[in-house]
Amino acid sequence: MLNRGPDYDAATAALWSHRDPAEFMGLVHYTTLAANSHNAQAWRFRRTTEGVAILPDMARALPVADSDHHHLYASLGCAAENLMLAAGAAGRSSAMEFATDGEAHIEIALGQVGNRDGLFDAILERQCTRSDFSGRPVPRSDLSAMQVAARVAGCELLLIEDRAKIEQVLELILAANATQVSDPAFAEELGSWLRFNARAAIEMGDGLYSGCSGNPSLPTFLGRIMFGVFFKPDAENDRYARQVRSSSGLAVFVSERDDPAHWVRAGRSYQRFALQATALGIRHAHLNQPVEVPSVRRELQSLLGLGNRRPDLVLRFGYAQPMPRSLRRPVRSVIAP
Ligand SMILES: Cc1cc2nc3c(=O)[nH]c(=O)nc-3n(C[C@H](O)[C@H](O)[C@H](O)COP(=O)(O)O)c2cc1C
Repeated sequence: MLNRGPDYDAATAALWSHRDPAEFMGLVHYTTLAANSHNAQAWRFRRTTEGVAILPDMARALPVADSDHHHLYASLGCAAENLMLAAGAAGRSSAMEFATDGEAHIEIALGQVGNRDGLFDAILERQCTRSDFSGRPVPRSDLSAMQVAARVAGCELLLIEDRAKIEQVLELILAANATQVSDPAFAEELGSWLRFNARAAIEMGDGLYSGCSGNPSLPTFLGRIMFGVFFKPDAENDRYARQVRSSSGLAVFVSERDDPAHWVRAGRSYQRFALQATALGIRHAHLNQPVEVPSVRRELQSLLGLGNRRPDLVLRFGYAQPMPRSLRRPVRSVIAP
């Protein structure tokens, strides 16, 4: 078994560190530290006369897990939120627009005078923590702070702490997870984003490193074999059931309309929630299976009484020790001409 080793720790320590947000490359650095689906980093950034354009990189889309590009645009929303917070830390204002001329993308205009938001300080600490949590409840005042931080027009955050309701949502998570895990195309796509050891993770600078999920490091050829053997519905469902039951609650982001502009809003709202949770010492992880499988998404809609509104993202939150950090590709490789 390969250990994570000093190289991985050095790479993450160098990545998750401060840059000058007043400089374009520094601004993009903070932007790329946003949460994003499969850590595929399906984004590119262009300097514009007004500020920065955030463009989708469709070569990094996930045709099986995210066939309508919902998560891709939600991830661009996460990036936009980090960018605007970093602009504020550099004393600049920012305004976001969703542009539909040509390929749908985000335009951020930067102004002269802006304020630093405390959430900026959590950018370097935030992570998705895919471990069991402690079960300890989150104080009401912290739940309120997360609600307030997550406020973005066109998107609502539902916090679920009732254990019976959590069990009902868990049932849908497990049903959707079993569907996905049994789908060879889903397993193949996920497998292509797994990085089975620190060397592969560092070389690629993207994807899901096994160590971040508490899994052992293995040579790539062996990791692929073990993934084929162990990626089975029962084992995966047992793990998710344990993780959900150890969590303090669930968070569901719901947008008013089901279109890319609102998926971006859901991403922004989630990123703000994640940063506020981080600032309060509260961890979170995604459980998006029930929004990714359309038939189960309709069941979730009805369970939560959402009418026609789309549940965008499902997460759990609670308390746990940090896990190893994720990596990103170098900023220069995500700059569009
Ligand atoms: C839109 C979106 C969907 C995601 N879906 C999942 C998911 O279903 N399961 C999961 O474990 N993580 C999910 N993630 C978390 C990403 O895998 C994570 O952000 C990425 O690996 C980078 O790691 P970090 O957030 O710890 O920096 C999602 C993130 C986003 C923004």
